[in-house]
Amino acid sequence: MAARAFRDDFVWGTASSAYQIEGAVDVDGKGPSIWDVFVQEEGRIHENRDATVACEFYTRYKDDIRLMKECGMKAYRFSLNWTRILPEGIGRVNEKGIEFYNNVIDELIKNDIEPYITLFHWEFPYALHKKGGWLNDDVVDWFAEYAALVADRFSDRVNKFITINEPQCFIGLGYLKGCNAPGLSCLNADLFQMAHNALKAHGKAVQAIRAHAKQPVEVGFAPTGQISFPETLKPEDIEATRKHLFSCPEGLGNWTWNLAWWMDPVLLGKYPEDGMRMYEKYLPNFTPEDMKLISQPLDFLGQNIYNGEMIRAGKDKPWEIITKCAGFPKTSMNWPVAYECLYWGPKFISERYNHIPIYITENGMACHDTISLDGKVHDPNRIDFLARYLMRLKDAVADGVDVRGYFQWAFTDNFEWAEGYNERFGLVYVDFPTQKRIVKDSAAWYRHVIETNGKEL
Ligand code: BGC
Repeated sequence: MAARAFRDDFVWGTASSAYQIEGAVDVDGKGPSIWDVFVQEEGRIHENRDATVACEFYTRYKDDIRLMKECGMKAYRFSLNWTRILPEGIGRVNEKGIEFYNNVIDELIKNDIEPYITLFHWEFPYALHKKGGWLNDDVVDWFAEYAALVADRFSDRVNKFITINEPQCFIGLGYLKGCNAPGLSCLNADLFQMAHNALKAHGKAVQAIRAHAKQPVEVGFAPTGQISFPETLKPEDIEATRKHLFSCPEGLGNWTWNLAWWMDPVLLGKYPEDGMRMYEKYLPNFTPEDMKLISQPLDFLGQNIYNGEMIRAGKDKPWEIITKCAGFPKTSMNWPVAYECLYWGPKFISERYNHIPIYITENGMACHDTISLDGKVHDPNRIDFLARYLMRLKDAVADGVDVRGYFQWAFTDNFEWAEGYNERFGLVYVDFPTQKRIVKDSAAWYRHVIETNGKEL
């Protein structure tokens, strides 16, 4: 067993996405994305909110980055809003948008915070959506054009890039369930085609970033998925859990919500066999060239981990999902607090995918945070949550899993997609009517974790 310690250069950071914080959705030449259009429809977002203002990061980025520095952050994972720099998604470049991200990058570097750029965190250009979006095979080239531009303009100062955030969610919630933009419920065959195109777009973007990079860069991918963890350490429970984690869902109503369909093609060059069998009649033709494109070698795997299911070996089936106990601990999103995920997730993923370096690119919790009479925001539940999850991550490191960094989601409270402003994930409280920031207790706690490289966990 390795020492129970994070590596000396462990990357401690926080994360966000463009649409959730920037505001300024139609200023300085920005083009519309599917989210800008979606939020305008009555009833789509909790309380009919939108992200026109969000956290005003577009104008407050200097203050927020200073606050990040004060909170001890070493790295910041943020996404670019595709239509801020390419208003129609391809073609004409909006220099004002480039200038904004240049300013953000420069400000981060000035504050010794390393930028990690995500290219796509769900704001698909509306102009390209009207041309068929992910269903149009040209999306692979559209995304590669955008990726090349990003590398051309930003890779002189940034060397960590993540192509796509959570394909499970943007395809599953946006095109299958329809609760996220663009609010569609597509046919199965179309969904599998979109998913395949998204993976090809990822592969071509990896090539484009490398080809246009101004310095050696590291490129990764940030999928998510529910993590399975075993009830006991009995070998049969562990094996059943491993199988469950990488199995594809039988029902088509929820098929996007799994790891293997998205990660096997990228990291192993093939789709999982159980999914190939179950979904056969809906699948497009997967050519060897496609699979080669999709499986471009990656420098790291980003993994967003929030929760999961407890599993035991089944009596007459491969596994059994254990029903949660009455009153089980949960976040304000009603997601179970399942800290075992941050041990078993990285461990199983590392084993299956040839010990690729892993970053936890998102983890955190939504709480019912409020400003107390003393004017502060006390969030003991978040501290407890983060401590439990990080302790288990440290155990994974001790067991030899190559975990390079951890990005807490999120730095500030923000626009939580269809939940609007109903859910607060931040280390920093945002009083939305005044835009005042209040550093929560958890931020001070996390700062100490960072300063001590997690020694006390
Ligand atoms: C997404 C974030 C989101 C967070 C909490 C992740 O699925 O990448 O954009 O805010 O979870 O729901």
